[in-house]
Amino acid sequence: MKSLKIISLTAMVLCLSASLAFALGAGVGRDGTIAAKRGKAESLQQLIDMYDVSSCVGCHPNNHEDWNESPHARSIYGTGRAAATMITAMKNGFMSWDYSGVESTKDIKIEHWMGCMKCHLPQLADATDAVAVELADTLLEWYDNAIAAANNPKDKKAVETSTRLAETLTSLNINCLICHNRNAITHKWTDGYPQHDTVYGYNDGDHMDDQFSKSKRSLIMNEAILCGQCHGLGPNLELDNPTQCATAYGSYLWAYQAGGGQETCQDCHMRKSGLGHKMVSYSNKTMQEMAVDFEVQAYASQWLDGSTLRPKTIVNVSMVNRAGHGIPDG
Ligand code: HEC
Ligand code: HEC
Ligand code: HEC
Ligand code: HEC
Ligand code: HEC
Repeated sequence: MKSLKIISLTAMVLCLSASLAFALGAGVGRDGTIAAKRGKAESLQQLIDMYDVSSCVGCHPNNHEDWNESPHARSIYGTGRAAATMITAMKNGFMSWDYSGVESTKDIKIEHWMGCMKCHLPQLADATDAVAVELADTLLEWYDNAIAAANNPKDKKAVETSTRLAETLTSLNINCLICHNRNAITHKWTDGYPQHDTVYGYNDGDHMDDQFSKSKRSLIMNEAILCGQCHGLGPNLELDNPTQCATAYGSYLWAYQAGGGQETCQDCHMRKSGLGHKMVSYSNKTMQEMAVDFEVQAYASQWLDGSTLRPKTIVNVSMVNRAGHGIPDG
């Protein structure tokens, strides 16, 4: 009798720990991520397919439309200017430096790109070095054809090629699955790795997508650190050759929060602004208005210049930054 009790107690404990493990997240291992399940992408197209979000659009049309208007939807192409800057970073950067090991595009490895892509396209880490070469060649071919097309709009081949390659470059972006899966967990050894069948948001439960059939709570979905992963603390000292671009997250932590600021990136950029997934900055009027408090006082007066009365204007201007970080950034 006694031993039976012990056995059932042990069973209960086992059961409890099994359900506890489930509550923490089924299959929290590194081997369950999208990249682990699929294997590293061997071409740009495979990388695009690995994080394909076409299934999400039908059920979340508004989120998709809003997102599509944000720079996240074109995070390496931008308006073309960002892509051109990536080429500069390659040519004047790692292709010209003595110790980078890169002489021609065929020497380029993923690590060379990470000085930009750790933020502009973090999923590039899930691709082989062959993709690093293909990315370089695609950027260069796009650029040459875009210039040729601009010089001669009748050059059909240049127009078609540059349009097609711009589409490829635009499809490499920060989409739903980057924030709601790949980058939705920062502390992976404590909270587990994001799983290939799960979207991360606010709730644990089922989710209607065929492939992403579960939803789980992400501890950071409502925290500045979600955005901070790419919005920069300062120089990226973990790289063999550090870079610096965005620094908004550093400024947020050390200036805004340290000074008592309470709001998160999501509070200002997604909710107060009413913009949701259309995260943009001063191109938007609401963001402009939220950015600075202006006060101008002007008085007319006179002053005695020797023996002559002269008119005088006194203007007091006060400008206070109301953003959660220094502006402009970068
Ligand atoms: C067949 C419809 C359907 C498809 C396809 C679909 N979703 Fe959903 N999704 C829903 C519904 C319904 C909800 C719950 C209501 C809501 O929050 O909008 C939801 C909720 C979510 C949430 C919030 C979850 C939470 O826990 O807070 C996220 C994030 C999400 N979906 C992302 C995605 C992504 C990313 C894709 C594509 C990979 C996708 N969804 C595809 C229907 C769908
Ligand atoms: C720490 C993350 C991070 C790194 C590393 C990084 N960037 Fe950025 N970059 C951003 C963010 C975030 C923005 C946009 C918001 C801003 O200005 O703060 C941005 C903006 C830009 C813009 C302006 C975008 C436009 O369309 O006008 C260009 C161009 C750019 N980055 C190029 C690069 C290049 C080239 C590299 C590599 C040498 C690089 N970035 C490295 C995060 C980063
Ligand atoms: C840059 C990061 C980022 C990207 C990219 C992103 N989301 Fe979100 N998403 C968030 C954050 C943060 C929240 C929580 C917002 C809040 O609480 O106000 C959220 C909330 C949601 C929700 C639940 C609330 C709601 O609005 O219904 C759904 C569903 C969702 N996202 C779907 C998507 C889909 C679909 C895409 C791609 C088209 C997408 N998200 C792209 C960061 C992102
Ligand atoms: C995976 C990396 C990543 C994450 C996560 C991310 N961003 Fe970004 N964000 C970028 C990059 C890169 C750009 C610049 C793209 C470009 O223009 O080339 C950008 C652009 C922006 C811009 C537009 C800046 C401008 O100059 O118009 C805003 C605003 C912004 N992000 C806010 C957010 C917020 C808020 C979150 C969190 C909810 C977030 N981002 C999460 C990488 C990221
Ligand atoms: C208190 C509100 C507030 C908070 C908190 C906040 N922002 Fe902003 N942010 C703004 C406003 C307002 C602007 C528009 C400023 C402008 O016109 O340049 C802005 C602009 C930006 C820009 C564009 C900067 C540029 O040079 O154009 C980026 C990127 C950005 N925010 C990212 C973030 C990220 C990431 C976080 C969290 C770490 C964050 N913001 C937190 C209010 C906020």
